[in-house]
Amino acid sequence: MIASVIKKPYLNTYAVALLLLLSLIYLLSLSSPYFDSSFNSFSTGNSIWSVKRFIEWRPCDWWIRGHLNALPEESNGYIRVDCYGGLNQMRRDLCDGVGIARLLNATLVLPKFEVAAYWNESSGFADVFDVDYFIGKMNGFIKVVKELPPEIASKEPVHVDCSKRKGQFDYIESILPSLLEHHYISITPAMSQRRDRYPRYAKAALCQACYSALRLTKFLEDKGSELLQAIPKPFLSLHLRFEPDMVAYSQCEYQGLSLASMQSIDAARGDRKPWTGEAARVWRGRGKCPLTPNETAFILQSLSIPLDTNIYLAAGDGLMEVEGLTSVYTNVFTKSSLLTNHDFKSMHGNTKAALDYHVSINSDSYMATYFGNMDKMVAAMRAYKGLFKTLFLSRRHFADFTSKGLKGKELMGALWKAHSDEFAMGIGSALPDCFCEFRL
Ligand SMILES: *[C@@H]1O[C@H](CO)[C@@H](O)[C@H](O)[C@H]1NC(C)=O
Ligand SMILES: *[C@@H]1O[C@H](CO)[C@@H](O)[C@H](O)[C@H]1NC(C)=O
Ligand SMILES: *[C@@H]1O[C@H](CO)[C@@H](O)[C@H](O)[C@H]1NC(C)=O
Repeated sequence: MIASVIKKPYLNTYAVALLLLLSLIYLLSLSSPYFDSSFNSFSTGNSIWSVKRFIEWRPCDWWIRGHLNALPEESNGYIRVDCYGGLNQMRRDLCDGVGIARLLNATLVLPKFEVAAYWNESSGFADVFDVDYFIGKMNGFIKVVKELPPEIASKEPVHVDCSKRKGQFDYIESILPSLLEHHYISITPAMSQRRDRYPRYAKAALCQACYSALRLTKFLEDKGSELLQAIPKPFLSLHLRFEPDMVAYSQCEYQGLSLASMQSIDAARGDRKPWTGEAARVWRGRGKCPLTPNETAFILQSLSIPLDTNIYLAAGDGLMEVEGLTSVYTNVFTKSSLLTNHDFKSMHGNTKAALDYHVSINSDSYMATYFGNMDKMVAAMRAYKGLFKTLFLSRRHFADFTSKGLKGKELMGALWKAHSDEFAMGIGSALPDCFCEFRL
């Protein structure tokens, strides 16, 4: 009884002091740009990168410690992951495939990379990535073999078609029986798998394969380093996607493009007609339309990226309307301007993709106008390396604000606020399941 009477005034003093302290912090926060990410930087000239971050993505603990789980004594068989498409798509499938192989307690055979169509060579995984490094880094996460045991070495694996499985299928139910029957199978992972059922050790193998164990071959890394050295520092790597096939695929229409651009888009459209009227507005509002170089330049200015910034254009050869960017940002560098003509001409699509990747995971900052396979891979690798100046420009916000009639300074202010809020909270660069939020 007495104790509570004595304690009460103490509590009140505490409460008052706490309240005062909180109000003080609040008042300070109003006057400090670092507390308020909506603070408009035009007056100070600070770029988006100076906004204080509250959230950072870092490799999850269970991944980093994944090798501490004992591997199964007995392997259920051998799995080869067959990868097709562009470099970053193949890599995504490889990551998934390693997770599946571990889930099934299988031994991994070196993956097959179907790069011939792009490289005009019969090259495979070993021509893109450093095999010994991969095997070394996967130690403890999954068993990898270079050579098969003699009794199956002469056979091609039985291909198990995952894309034919229905809905959210389960690999243990539907693929394990084939593995046990044939001992050696090949798979191309399907997107519809039930990843929620993965045990952590399988996810850890996926993460390790994808972000820790892949290093470009010495040849590609040397080429990448040459390119990197030629770019003036510091620099922003900008992944700009405004190629005819991209635009055609998006089914969006644009005003004010050059005749040449419109013709190449039409040629790429096929029977994919662009949306019109209300449907087009809704589509654009959902962020489905690629940003033009002109729009990209406008957003960069809104984010107070100085006009003299060195920009490396990580983009395909067919980029259209690039003057929309280069007329505003004049220090723009491309592969073709930096590589010798001979090197550039002799390179195929995936080699160039590998160079863009290498430059983008080593640049001071990275921005993407799209959230594709390359962007997801680069953002994750940058987070893995502790490089946090990574941002996805928001097509959705841009469409939303312009459809509301915002223009000029007002539009810039709205774009600044939207992007800086997301940058501060780590939103939008939503990384794959391998990274965990860390509060700063
Ligand atoms: C894989 O091995 C672990 C034990 O190491 C076991 O718990 C699990 O059921 C096995 N899974 C399959 C698909 O064989
Ligand atoms: C691809 O290789 C073939 C045979 O070596 C060659 O004739 C052809 O010119 C090459 N194509 C390209 C685009 O390099
Ligand atoms: C973008 O295009 C618009 C309309 O054609 C033009 O007024 C504006 O100056 C361009 N902006 C940039 C940054 O090039």
